[in-house]
Amino acid sequence: MSRTLVELLRDGLPDEAILTDPDVTSSYAHDMASFCEAGEPAVVVLPRTVEQVQHVMRTATELRVPVVPQGARTGLSGAANASDGCIVLSLVKMDRILEISPVDRIAVVEPGVVNAALSRAVGEHGLYYPPDPSSWETCTIGGNIGTASGGLCCVKYGVTAEYVLGLDVVLADGRLMSTGRRTAKGVAGYDLTRLFVGSEGSLGIVVRAVLALKPEPPQQLVLAAEFPSAQAACDAVCKIMEGGHVPSLLELMDRTTVKAVNALAQMGLPETTEALLLAAFDTPDPAADLAAVGALCEAAGATQVVPAEDAAESEMLLQARRLSLTALEAIKGSTMIDDVCVPRSKLAEMLEGVERIGEKYDLTVGVCAHAGDGNTHPTVCFDAADPDEGRRARESFDEIMALGLELGGTITGEHGVGVLKKEWLAREIGPVGVEMQQAVKAAFDPHSLLNPGKLF
Ligand code: LAC
Ligand code: ZN
Repeated sequence: MSRTLVELLRDGLPDEAILTDPDVTSSYAHDMASFCEAGEPAVVVLPRTVEQVQHVMRTATELRVPVVPQGARTGLSGAANASDGCIVLSLVKMDRILEISPVDRIAVVEPGVVNAALSRAVGEHGLYYPPDPSSWETCTIGGNIGTASGGLCCVKYGVTAEYVLGLDVVLADGRLMSTGRRTAKGVAGYDLTRLFVGSEGSLGIVVRAVLALKPEPPQQLVLAAEFPSAQAACDAVCKIMEGGHVPSLLELMDRTTVKAVNALAQMGLPETTEALLLAAFDTPDPAADLAAVGALCEAAGATQVVPAEDAAESEMLLQARRLSLTALEAIKGSTMIDDVCVPRSKLAEMLEGVERIGEKYDLTVGVCAHAGDGNTHPTVCFDAADPDEGRRARESFDEIMALGLELGGTITGEHGVGVLKKEWLAREIGPVGVEMQQAVKAAFDPHSLLNPGKLF
């Protein structure tokens, strides 16, 4: 009689690394896009070593069982959702920081390291790992690599892709491949490292990453500017960028978002404003830079421009911004979070269009945005128990992506495609693009076992 999946997994994994109780395994079925379809995993494995991951992949290939890699499941597109009968491969136990080198300005980490833990550890060496998704206190570096995460700092420091220098990857058949480098430069062959960043677990399992670090900048200081319209706030964003300023963040919260955050956390944000813009500088003289940007905000029509008094007040404003999605979720219980990124010169048109779409479908759509990047998160609030509202939410969510594409943007700046935006990926990259991406997938994963049903 042939041996079962779990028996074979036990050959290379300790008992505590294999979870089979359905009550437990079903808790691994979803990432944060809980309304996206998800199946029931057959088993959850929590390896601690590269060899154990290789064993899982060899077993999966032998039995042709799909594998869904997971980090902290903070993703927003269903990319980490289980499929029926799959092995959920959770990397959270591989959470060691293996090396921090101030001379080479790199860190070498396992995929389960939490983003904030890495930031703190490198900070002790006077170094800085910039990518900072709002979920940074819980999300993992492996998940950040899988999704090509962004965050608040990207307007100055760029996204995860810019910090991943090299990877160790376990392939579908269990072989171990190293990509990239640990040097400051390197152009040997195709850039497979970059290919893996944002591949959503569909090409291989990242088991080790070499990450570039920056010297730690001075503490940033934040300014809050209130605007009578989103249009005026977008105008200020354009003036700031056109003026050659390099803010360390440039974020927008619309009135709905501001009110939601106040309701959730009593932050005391100004509720009469139509749009709140947060700008920050981590330069040697942040007060001078903020004064210059404050003047541009006023020229664009800001009614109030208030620089934070100190680091604590700056942090409070960032905390408010990071709470935006949780706060918007509290309005109706469920949200669909768009992630449309447009050229920043089109930001005002994007926000006007979102408002129109919200009115058309009679739904609350709160917007927070990494405005400096043109990366908007129009968040459709809906009651999942009301089917008609659910349908309208999905239609408005889609119409927002269509608008983003029309304006020369992309359907996702940092959250990825997952299961949520599959048709939209095809619309964005076209049939030839899909064909070539599927050919790449087939080269790495000929039996289509790695996170099947995602992306395409
Ligand atoms: C944020 C996440 C949702 O910007 O990307 O808060
Ligand atoms: Zn974001």
